[in-house]
Amino acid sequence: MSLASDLLLAGELVALPTETVYGLAADATNPQAIKKIYQAKGRPSDNPLIVHIPHYSMVEQFALIPNHLDISHFASTFWPGPLTILLPKKNHSLDSACAGLQKVALRVPDSQFFCQVMLHSGLALAAPSANLSGSMSPTSANHVLSDMDGKIPLIVNGGECRVGLESTVIDVSSQTARILRPGGIGLDKLKEYFGDIVCAFEVSKNHAPESPGQKYRHYAPSLPLKICSSEHMVLSPDTVYLLTAEAQEQLQFPKDQVILMGTLNNLSSVASSLFASLRLADSMKFKQIVCESLPTEGIGLAIMNRLSRASKG
Ligand code: TXA
Ligand code: MG
Repeated sequence: MSLASDLLLAGELVALPTETVYGLAADATNPQAIKKIYQAKGRPSDNPLIVHIPHYSMVEQFALIPNHLDISHFASTFWPGPLTILLPKKNHSLDSACAGLQKVALRVPDSQFFCQVMLHSGLALAAPSANLSGSMSPTSANHVLSDMDGKIPLIVNGGECRVGLESTVIDVSSQTARILRPGGIGLDKLKEYFGDIVCAFEVSKNHAPESPGQKYRHYAPSLPLKICSSEHMVLSPDTVYLLTAEAQEQLQFPKDQVILMGTLNNLSSVASSLFASLRLADSMKFKQIVCESLPTEGIGLAIMNRLSRASKG
C-alpha cells in the first residue's frame, strides 16, 4: 500500500483491483499523471475518466450537488459499489481527468484496498479500465500484465474481480436520471430508486454520445465475434463457443471447442467470467468466436451491451 501510494503521489500510474474490473489509477488532479494514462492505454484524448473517491462526503469537493439529489441517501443505497454518477464540476481541479467536459464522473469503488490507497495517499484517483484502448477490460492481474507489461511501474494483484463488468454510469445532474452505460447495477434497482429513468446509451449516428466512451470500438477480441441464440447454434470446426452450462447441456458440443461462462439462472456468474472467457477464446487457435445470446434482465443488459459492441469490433 505504501508503494502504491508513493508512486501515485509521485505522479506515476498504478493498476489496482476494484470489484468491477482492474483500474489504471493516477492522481485525478495531476494533469501530467492523467496524460500518462492516455498514453499507456492509447486512449483517445476526448474520452474522460471516472474519478474515484473513498467516501461520498468528498463529492462536494469536486461537484455541485443538485437540490433534487440527497447524496447521503443515494450513497447509503449504492456506494461503495458499481455505480458512477455524473454531476456538474465544481472547479477546474479535474479538468484533465474530465477531458475538458463540464461534468465529472464519480464513484466509490467497493474495494477496501483501493479505498485504503486513496485514504493513505490523500488522493482521489482517476482510473479507466486497465486495458489497452478498444480491448477487453481486465478482470485479473494477469490480464493487466498482458496489456500493460513494461508500461507501468506497479500492478497490485487482488485476484479476480467479483462483478467482472464495469460500473453503470448515470447522469444525475437533472431531475430525470439518464443511463449512459449499463453496468454492474441493473435497471431494476435504478428504477426503484429514481423512478423514471432514460436509457441514453444506444448511440445514434445523428447525435454525439453523452458519454464519449460509447462511440469508440470497445471490448473487442481480435477474432471475429458473433452472438447467437443457443437454439440456432450449429457446430463448426473452426469456431470456439462461449456457452452457459445450460446451453452446453443441450448442445453437447466437443469440450475442446467450448468455454463455459456461468449459468443462465445466475447471470452474475456470466458477468464475472465474461471478459476472461473472451480473452481465453481470443488466445485459442480458432477462426471465430460464437457467444450465446443472453436475456437482458438485471446484469444481462450490461452483458449484452458489451457483447454487441465487441461483435462490432
Ligand atoms: O467500473 C468501472 O467503471 C471501471 C473501474 C476501474 O472503476 N472504470 C471504467 O472506466 O470502466 P472507463 O474509462 O473504462 O469507462 C468510463 C466510461 C467511459 O465510457 C467514459 O466516456 C465515461 O465513463 N465517462 C467518464 N467521465 C465522463 C464524463 N465526465 N462525462 C461523460 N462520460 C464520462
Ligand atoms: Mg474501459
